[in-house]
Amino acid sequence: MTHVSSVPGSCYFYYPRPVCVVGVRDDQKGTANFAPVAWTTPLSSDPPLFGVCLSPETRSHQLALKTGEFTVNFLTGDRAALADALGRLSGRDTDKVQALSLDLEPGEVLSTPILAAAYVSAECCLVERHQVGDQTLLVGEVQRIHAAPDAFDADGVLRIDHVGPLLYLGSNRYATTDRQPVFPLGETATKR
Ligand SMILES: Cc1cc2nc3c(=O)[nH]c(=O)nc-3n(C[C@H](O)[C@H](O)[C@H](O)COP(=O)(O)O)c2cc1C
Repeated sequence: MTHVSSVPGSCYFYYPRPVCVVGVRDDQKGTANFAPVAWTTPLSSDPPLFGVCLSPETRSHQLALKTGEFTVNFLTGDRAALADALGRLSGRDTDKVQALSLDLEPGEVLSTPILAAAYVSAECCLVERHQVGDQTLLVGEVQRIHAAPDAFDADGVLRIDHVGPLLYLGSNRYATTDRQPVFPLGETATKR
């Protein structure tokens, strides 16, 4: 393969990534706030830690630090318009729950709500924060997971034949997965 070299910032080499909508409680306004975040990562299985990178300029950053908790909500491929709208607005000046008529469900362990439209959500307690360049890595300990009944198979693997996850490509482009998983070397489904 022929390669063309370029400087950082010239292309989104790290995409596609799943769109994760971070939910936070806004006690002052008596509402919640939701923002799409593509820079997320699982960090540890024991304890179960999940990291989200937020710009300190976002309202979500401010509220997650204030309440010490957040939810993460994963959307299906048909929700690109919702993700885009959540990313264009800010909780600093808009109540997105009202403006976008978001359906929420209460958390089971924490008091930050989850998005009803998500195929899977997790409630996280904020346990660490790290400044990483111009972002803050917020580390959440997962307290509870809420999944649509048909979203995961018996191995806990996402059923992409039922649920196509929303992926972000950068700029204003989104995608989803093929409806069939790929098994390397002709294998069939096995638990690892
Ligand atoms: C698909 C998508 C992914 C995004 N990923 C991130 C991200 O990883 N970190 C971040 O700080 N902002 C990210 N943004 C931008 C925020 O969602 C945007 O600044 C939003 O207005 C913040 O809302 P808030 O001020 O209500 O928290 C992303 C936006 C979109 C549309």
